[in-house]
Amino acid sequence: MGMNKKTIKDVELKGKKVFVRVDYNVPFDENMNITNDTRIVRTKETVSYLLEQGAAVILACHIGRPTEAREEKFSTKHLVKRVSEVMGVDVKWVPDCVGPEAEKAAADLKPGEILLLENLRYHKEEKKNNPEFAKQLADLADLAVDDAFGVSHRAHAANAGIAAYKEVVAGFLMEKEIKFIGQTLEAPQRPFVAIIGGAKVSDKIGVISNMIDKVDKIIIGGGMAHTFDAAQGLPIGNSLCEKDKFDEALAQLAKAKEKGVEVILPVDLTIADRFAADANTQVVDVDKVPENWEALDSGPKTSEKYVEALAGAKTVVWNGPMGVFEFDAFAKGTLAVAKAVAGATEQGAISIVGGGDSIAALTKTGLSDKISHISTGGGATLEFLEGKPMPGIEAIADK
Ligand code: 3PG
Repeated sequence: MGMNKKTIKDVELKGKKVFVRVDYNVPFDENMNITNDTRIVRTKETVSYLLEQGAAVILACHIGRPTEAREEKFSTKHLVKRVSEVMGVDVKWVPDCVGPEAEKAAADLKPGEILLLENLRYHKEEKKNNPEFAKQLADLADLAVDDAFGVSHRAHAANAGIAAYKEVVAGFLMEKEIKFIGQTLEAPQRPFVAIIGGAKVSDKIGVISNMIDKVDKIIIGGGMAHTFDAAQGLPIGNSLCEKDKFDEALAQLAKAKEKGVEVILPVDLTIADRFAADANTQVVDVDKVPENWEALDSGPKTSEKYVEALAGAKTVVWNGPMGVFEFDAFAKGTLAVAKAVAGATEQGAISIVGGGDSIAALTKTGLSDKISHISTGGGATLEFLEGKPMPGIEAIADK
């Protein structure tokens, strides 16, 4: 897949109507207040540039996974206020993304104005990548822009099918995601260290395998480390474990050995007598986990190993927490990684952090602005790191 993509800088925008696919799939509380607006804020640069260049902007996005019943909680009308505030323009809204009302609103839209369409996924044709639906979307505008990195692992109408009818160019957020993740995977500066955490081996095995092909060192932490430990015969008490993944875990360790990639698993653990914020805790070496106790975080010796492993790194990719960091008592390992990644970045490394949990941990430390690139993708970032095809990126015109 070519990574050198056309962007909004490469096209004439003055007087154009521009269809912009964004990923505004943001979390809401029970009163439909947005609890994290990062994905909106991160598209501001693109939208502001388009407006400054004299374009009219038609924003298209999805929220959640609605059915054709058009559940109200998934309506993009809940985004209008916040998008207006962020962009500094009163956003117009239409209750459908295709059809006469959307067509009229798009036709009437003037340079400098923003129109937000209703949830693309209220039409099942979006996920089916239906060509007629893609054409109806394309016909609303003169040009298509994709700034929705978070859906680029999906071949849907508004990001993939649309390319058959209008040239698609990248917005600045998409450009940044491709630059950092794509180019890092293709030609990383070395030493390259990956830190992969999280609860389940099954969610991360593809990333671990692809990373072992590319990195010099890999840190495996979080709940899934116990499956790697148990597979090697270590006692893990009541810690998380996927017995059916032992063979895969051992195969990855063997692959790393064969390729000369250093694997760093926890050497000590913070264990608890139950899964609770106020559980009794102790720190033990990894071969000393008693029965009836469970590991909920890595220990202090392990944190030192993380710092050592990251010293001198030139590229760092981090996805997934090292423990149950939502509980303060079990956040130390994850926070140590956050600090070590920020430290490596200050020393000149390129750092990429993806995944909601790692980002939340970074936010907790106040170190987010020390990271080279925080990805807005969830599943998309993982699949990109796994080396899977990215139809949304493929649909963007090459330079
Ligand atoms: C996300 O939140 O990761 C993206 O918006 C994709 O959503 P999806 O997994 O429902 O396709």
